[in-house]
Amino acid sequence: MKGVILAGGLGSRLRPLTKITNKHLLPIYDRPMIFYPIQAMINAGIKDIMIVCGGNHAGEFLRLLGNGKDFGLKHLNYTYQEGEGGIADALALTRFFVDDDRVAVMLGDNIIENNFLQAKNDFEAQETGAKILLKEVADPRPYGVAEVSGGKVLGIEEKPQQPKSNLAVIGIYFFDNTVFKIVDTLKPSGRGELEITDVNNAYIQRGDMSYSILEGWWGDAGESFESLIEVSNLVYQTGANKMP
Ligand code: DAU
Repeated sequence: MKGVILAGGLGSRLRPLTKITNKHLLPIYDRPMIFYPIQAMINAGIKDIMIVCGGNHAGEFLRLLGNGKDFGLKHLNYTYQEGEGGIADALALTRFFVDDDRVAVMLGDNIIENNFLQAKNDFEAQETGAKILLKEVADPRPYGVAEVSGGKVLGIEEKPQQPKSNLAVIGIYFFDNTVFKIVDTLKPSGRGELEITDVNNAYIQRGDMSYSILEGWWGDAGESFESLIEVSNLVYQTGANKMP
């Protein structure tokens, strides 16, 4: 299984911090944000990783990460997203890297307390389709929100004003190789982006989506200034990417 970390976009919600650097290079406690999803991939046993960068400071990723030696990797793959066409647009750029394999995708601003090894193993045992991870949160409105019943996901709404549950869709997704065909059919949303939620809903409509609930805390560090500091504090207090 290939690993993709999405670190494109302009990080406009975090201006002026993101005027002089990329959002994913901002500090989360003692490390740049992007270190956490890379370590999470490696902890899940995924070592063939592509990072999608973008914006005005993409060269800094190479300076910081090189070929991933600090993580014990021999090689890291990079691609560049022009503009801010959305998460699914960024994913589309990895088509030739993923080739005929399956893919685990992690958003570059998502940080988890533990690891997603079990979910990755469960997806490997799944013959086709996709898998998402959910987490109960107090206010799910800034996220994709899943409606579930009888062990199945019925649908996902992106940033709903009146959420149907408290289950946020976190930024870790597993897809079979048909994901790129789905991305080809997408149309930009109201915010002008190709939405990952539309990709996930296509799998749900096909009846080929599973889910599990993430253990331990989860943070979307790039959501706001508050989340940036909250996630930093969580990492400081409890550590991130812990293995059993
Ligand atoms: O954090 C989880 C949430 O992430 C999900 O619950 C939502 O369903 C999903 O749409 C996403 O929402 P956000 O509004 O938080 O996404 P954001 O625009 O912050 O993008 C998340 C990451 O994706 C970001 O760190 C970099 C990458 N990205 C984003 C865009 C818009 C790209 O690589 N390219 C892009 O064009």
